[in-house]
Amino acid sequence: MDAQQIVKYKEQLGKIGASLVSQGMKVGLGSGSTAACVIRSLGKRWQEEGLRFEGVPSSIASAKLAESYGIELTTLGECPELDIAIDGADEVTHQGLQLIKGLGGALLREKIVRYAAKKFVIVVDERKLVDKLGEHTPVPVEVTPFGWEATMKHLEKIGASIKVRVKNDHPDFFLTDGGNMILDCDFGIIDDPVRLEKDIISIAGVIESGLFINCTDEALVAGYNGIQHLYK
Ligand code: 5RP
Repeated sequence: MDAQQIVKYKEQLGKIGASLVSQGMKVGLGSGSTAACVIRSLGKRWQEEGLRFEGVPSSIASAKLAESYGIELTTLGECPELDIAIDGADEVTHQGLQLIKGLGGALLREKIVRYAAKKFVIVVDERKLVDKLGEHTPVPVEVTPFGWEATMKHLEKIGASIKVRVKNDHPDFFLTDGGNMILDCDFGIIDDPVRLEKDIISIAGVIESGLFINCTDEALVAGYNGIQHLYK
């Protein structure tokens, strides 16, 4: 799949993702480049069709993008229950729609937004589809900066090979919107994501893991044959 093709797929996903939103809905706005295409398409509908909805962004970057189109944003404090959240993902299993998310570093807010929503829809191109999680992507784990070295050791004990995430082309640690660090944890092929999720989350210092288990209702997958709809 070449770069031009990927851009085309993301634009298609943006339009179809945005078509799921109707007047007056409460909408969780995802993060990353594919979710950004959904926000741009929603922005066009906001400006050209007069679509109005309440948006809760899952990152500062998504908030800025939505605001640049004039989309009105709100918070989970004002709007604790959302009709839908639409987001990207890094890996999606064909069966069960289990996910790895967080290569963009927004996993904590994305998970909070997801669990505020009645329906969770993922937009991905077909490169992200896998039989089992862990085929191409480590599991991003958000940890507190305090004592992160100890947290890392505990993650290693449960089988992770870890890279501490740094800023692009910079030796400084990457920090999330919440000021936390990300440890990219390679567990190899993940046979039991439910168990692994529990093991990761039980470690002191872990704030959230990028495993999104049994929580996706639908995946829109762009590929050579158009857009496929996969359901859990
Ligand atoms: C950010 C995420 C993104 O949704 C994920 O990384 C997919 O991004 P992209 O659409 O750019 O491939 O989880 O934390």
